[in-house]
Amino acid sequence: MSEPRGGQIVNVMKEERLFSPSPEFSAKARIKSIEEYERLWKESAADIPGFWGKMAEELHWFKPFDKVLEWNEPFAKWFVGGQTNVSYNCLDVHLSTPRRNKAALIWEGEPGDTRVYTYQMLHTEVCKFANVLKKLGIGQGDVVSMYMPMVPELVIAMLACARIGAIHCVIFAGFSSEAIAERNRDASAKLIITADQGWRRGAKLPLKANVDAALEKSPTVQKCVVLKRVGDPAPMKEGRDFWWHDLMAEASDVCPAQPMDSEAPLFILYTSGSTGKPKGVKHTTAGYNLYAKKTTEWVFDVRDEDVFWCTADVGWITGHTYIVYGPLSAGVTTFVYEGAPNAPREDRWWSLIEKYKINILYTAPTAIRTFIKWGDHWVDQHDLSSLRLLGSVGEGINPEAWMWYYEKIGGSRCPIVDTWWQTETGGIMMSPLPGAIPLKPGSCTKPLPGIIPEIVAEDGKPVEPGHGGWLVIAKPWPGMLRGIWGDDERYKIQYWSDVKGKYLCGDNARCDADGYYWIMGRIDDVLNVSGHRLSTIEIESALVSHEAVAEAAAVGRPHEIKGEAVAVFVTLASGYEPSDELRKKLRDHVRKEIGAFCVPDDIRFTTALPKTRSGKIMRRLLRDIAAGRQTTGDTTTLEDFSVLARLRSDEE
Ligand code: PRX
Repeated sequence: MSEPRGGQIVNVMKEERLFSPSPEFSAKARIKSIEEYERLWKESAADIPGFWGKMAEELHWFKPFDKVLEWNEPFAKWFVGGQTNVSYNCLDVHLSTPRRNKAALIWEGEPGDTRVYTYQMLHTEVCKFANVLKKLGIGQGDVVSMYMPMVPELVIAMLACARIGAIHCVIFAGFSSEAIAERNRDASAKLIITADQGWRRGAKLPLKANVDAALEKSPTVQKCVVLKRVGDPAPMKEGRDFWWHDLMAEASDVCPAQPMDSEAPLFILYTSGSTGKPKGVKHTTAGYNLYAKKTTEWVFDVRDEDVFWCTADVGWITGHTYIVYGPLSAGVTTFVYEGAPNAPREDRWWSLIEKYKINILYTAPTAIRTFIKWGDHWVDQHDLSSLRLLGSVGEGINPEAWMWYYEKIGGSRCPIVDTWWQTETGGIMMSPLPGAIPLKPGSCTKPLPGIIPEIVAEDGKPVEPGHGGWLVIAKPWPGMLRGIWGDDERYKIQYWSDVKGKYLCGDNARCDADGYYWIMGRIDDVLNVSGHRLSTIEIESALVSHEAVAEAAAVGRPHEIKGEAVAVFVTLASGYEPSDELRKKLRDHVRKEIGAFCVPDDIRFTTALPKTRSGKIMRRLLRDIAAGRQTTGDTTTLEDFSVLARLRSDEE
């Protein structure tokens, strides 16, 4: 572990305002008071398996489980011996209820086209596509990659995989062909699903072209299904590429859900860690499904008449859990918008809320800060009175953004649930329960039932109350990752070795005198740019793979909108000179190697990097320089003191 990085949210910690839920909100909520929450939490903490075993009765079981939890540290098995199916729990269970003809999914494309699927209609499409997958030779345990726009077919494809026991691996459409190929290879994907192109702010994203390039380096992928989204001609490779609509035209809509073992893998989702290689986080069937359902119900307090809009991309965990699996298992209407928030104008989101009478909006602080910058007049033109609950995820929300969100978007009547969790946790871990827990802006408040957080020092012992330290989770929970795809060793080392017997999440946090948790940033070299997790080492590896670069160090610096921006320090190989043209080339190179969303904001050429005597780059110093701060703290381990002066003068 490198040095802790708390401290940047100091002003958040002085926040003393408290916002209690209104009596009307609490009266209708599932959990109505702090006392009720505390009772539930204590009950869960006293008997973790008993608590979750009871909750699991809410899923459909083809075969009941024999044992709730088998904990062979650090490997957990939940609901052992049971068989269920996630697609069944999201769709079939509703078909014998009045929800059958209710909207499961309401979608609007960026150009303004719309589609609505009832639970029955979604079931039909999922069954048909499940049959398509079977026809293409996909069966239980096969991995299917998806590189798609935010269209209903992505949801359909995910549920179709779940239906037949195939494992999906959704790759965010902002990744480059290199990144797709790396994931395809690591996951041994057999099939990939994509679209001809996608819409983004009126431009056309070359999705199929990126996949074509990736498939040159993805030896395990045999076939490719292509959805026609935009309509420009797309080259199709005979025998490998198939149009979605051709396959669907011939598919039967009868496909019973395959009973799956509780621990059968449901999906792999890659995320950044503290090394250059992305981690394939593995989630399995029953535990994930239950956790997605219960957290949706507790945190968003969803009701049958709600339209729920989680604005994340399905390519991230937030989209998996709170666009697809959570809302559909809970029988809610999930809303999906395909495009950019400023297409065609900066009020697109507010017009969608007004048009569809959205009740719950779940988004990220970076989006909120962007809207603040765009100006209130975009919001003022719209009636947002349908909203009753707001959510935030991805990074801490600063009090200024919190207050704007609360007053301007929520009309001072909607609680804000600031939800802390990770790709690895499968679902929300700490968050206000909106009818029960008074809010403090900037705090994710308290753990959900069944979740036991602790704050510990580097020796694993609890810190004194009120002090910052490593946030760990002391007991297994059903939504937890079951490992890193193909790398048990890395799973053990990354999450379970620094603090014995507890899950180390990689964040620093503090718990105040009221038992409220405050997240204080990452322990490791992971950046959080616009709510996306980026590994500094991944960016550095991309840079040094360019012939002009000898060495590179990437650090985060504070950024008004994105939270953190990427600053890189580069030393050049001999024969290369700093220039704006080279800067542009390096940016393009990172775009090609990883994807547009990782492109560094600042590239600084330097003649040397500050290192310790053992050769470790002193990132703390680079962070100070990138942020324009005075260098503070210890520099005695610096190998060459003149480097600091040179770094500063290189800037001038
Ligand atoms: O550092 C925390 C931050 O995002 C990390 C997880 O990133 P990822 O796996 O990409 O998942 C993002 C969506 C769940 C965490 O380790 N983070 C997430 N939510 C919050 C947060 N930091 C502070 N407050 C939050 N509410």
